[in-house]
Amino acid sequence: MANILVIDDKESMREGVAQVLIRMGHEAFTASGGAKGLTIYKRESIDFTITDLKMDSVDGTQVLRHIREQDPDALVMIITGHGTIEVAVEAMKLGAFDFITKPFPPDLLRSKVERALSVSQMRRRNVLLEAENEALRADIDAKFDAIVGESPAMQRVYKTVRKVAPTDSTVYVYGESGTGKELVARAIHQASHRAQGPFVKVNCSALAETLLESELFGHEKGSFTGAHKRKIGRFELAHNGTIFLDEIGDISPSIQLKLLRVLQEREFERVGGEESIKVDVRVVTATNKDIKKLVSEGEFREDLFYRLHIIPMTLPPLRERRGDIPLLADHFIRKLASRTRSSVEQIAPKALEALQSYAFPGNVRELENIIEQSLVFAEGDTLVEDDLPQFVLSGPRRDTLVLPQGDRPLPEILEDLEHQLIVRAFRKASGVKTETARLLGIKTSALYYKLDKYGIDEAILEG
Ligand SMILES: Nc1ncnc2c1ncn2[C@@H]1O[C@H](COP(=O)(O)OP(=O)(O)OP(=O)(O)O)[C@@H](O)[C@H]1O
Ligand SMILES: [Mg+2]
Repeated sequence: MANILVIDDKESMREGVAQVLIRMGHEAFTASGGAKGLTIYKRESIDFTITDLKMDSVDGTQVLRHIREQDPDALVMIITGHGTIEVAVEAMKLGAFDFITKPFPPDLLRSKVERALSVSQMRRRNVLLEAENEALRADIDAKFDAIVGESPAMQRVYKTVRKVAPTDSTVYVYGESGTGKELVARAIHQASHRAQGPFVKVNCSALAETLLESELFGHEKGSFTGAHKRKIGRFELAHNGTIFLDEIGDISPSIQLKLLRVLQEREFERVGGEESIKVDVRVVTATNKDIKKLVSEGEFREDLFYRLHIIPMTLPPLRERRGDIPLLADHFIRKLASRTRSSVEQIAPKALEALQSYAFPGNVRELENIIEQSLVFAEGDTLVEDDLPQFVLSGPRRDTLVLPQGDRPLPEILEDLEHQLIVRAFRKASGVKTETARLLGIKTSALYYKLDKYGIDEAILEG
C-alpha cells in the first residue's frame, strides 16, 4: 500500500482518481489546490503525487517545483487537459515522472501508478543497498566516470579538455541542462596536475545569498545569528584542487564582487573575519544561461565575466549527436544494471530505434533516466521497446524542431534551428544534396557551405 496525493481543483476528477487508487489498495490524500496539496505533502509521507496542471494560484508546475525542491527524487505525474506536446515536454523538463492526458481510462491510470510505484520501491531499495555498500559504489561510479561519445561534436569537447586540463586557466562550460557539464568539469580536474587534490562543487543557484556567501568563503564564529562555530568555506576546501561553480549566472552583485577579488588576487576573508586567506584553486564554472546577455542587461559584472570566460567551451545537445545514442545506452545499461538488480545486458534494435527517434529535450541525463526506468521493467537479458516509458514512444520525435533552451542570443538560437532544419531536409532527401537544397529553397552552393559549417554529412543518415 502506498500513500498517493491527488491534487485537482475539479472535485469529480479528484474523487474519480482517488476511487481508482483506493480500489487498487492505496491510501489517497486529496487536495483541491496546489497550496493545500503542498501542506499535505509536507505532513504525510507521500510516495507519489498526481497533480492537475491548470489550477488557480498555485498550479501544477509550481507544485512540481516545490516538491522537487524538497525531494529531488520525488515522483510526480501531471494531468494535462490539453494534450499538447509542449506542455508535456515542459513538465518532463521540470522533472515530472510522467503525464496523463484528460480524459483517460482507469486502466491507463492504474498502469501509470503501478509503474511509478515500482520505480519508487526500487529506488528505496537502492538507497538501503547504497548505504550498505558505499565503498563498492564509489568504486563502480569511478569506473563509469568516463565521458561517452565518439561524434565529431564530442571529439571537439575531448580536444578542448586535453588542451585546457594541464593549465590553470579558468574554464567556462556552457550547455543545455543534462549535457554533461559537471562530468566535463570533473574530467578537467582528473586530467590536471591537481587530480590528487580535491574537486569541490558549489551549486550557486541552490542557496540564498547569505548562505552562499558563507558556503563559498566560510565564516567566523558569531559573525551572524546562528554562526555557532567557525565554518571553512568551499574555496578553502578546494585548496590545491579545483572548485566547480555550477549555475554561475545566478549569483548576486555582492558575491560577484567577492568572487572577482578571489579570481584576481587568489585571496579572501571569511564572513565576519579579518584574516586574508590565500588559496591555490583552479576555477571551472558552468551555466545554461546566456551570461553575455546578463552582462548587457547589467545583471552580471563585465569584469567578472571576462575573468571567468577565459576558456569557453560549449557542450552539444544530444539531438546534435544522435550517433552517440547507442554507445550511451550501452554505457548506462552497464552502469545501472546492477543498481536496478536487472539482468539486462543489451538493448533490442527496435528499442534503440525508438530512442534514436526521440528528441531528448533533457539530453543525456534524460537518456540515463529513461534507461534506469526501463531496466526496472525489463525481463531477461534484453531491453525491448515495451520496457521504454510511454513518452519516449509518443513524445517529441527527432524531426520535431526543438527550441533551444536557456537565454541564448538570437543568432545562436537561429543557428540551432537552422542546423535542425538542414538535418531534417538532408534526411528526407536521403543525403542527395541538390534535393536537400531544393527542399530548403536555397542554392546548392549555399547548402555546401552550411553542411560544412554544421559538420553534417552522410553519417547522420544512419543515426
Ligand atoms: N557524454 C556522457 N557520457 C556519459 N555520461 C554522461 C555524458 N554526459 C552526461 N552524462 C551523465 O548524465 C548525467 C547528467 O550529466 P551532468 O550532471 O554532468 O549534466 P549537467 O550539464 O551538469 O546538467 P544540469 O545542467 O542539469 O546540471 C550524469 O549522470 C552524467 O554522468
Ligand atoms: Mg549540472
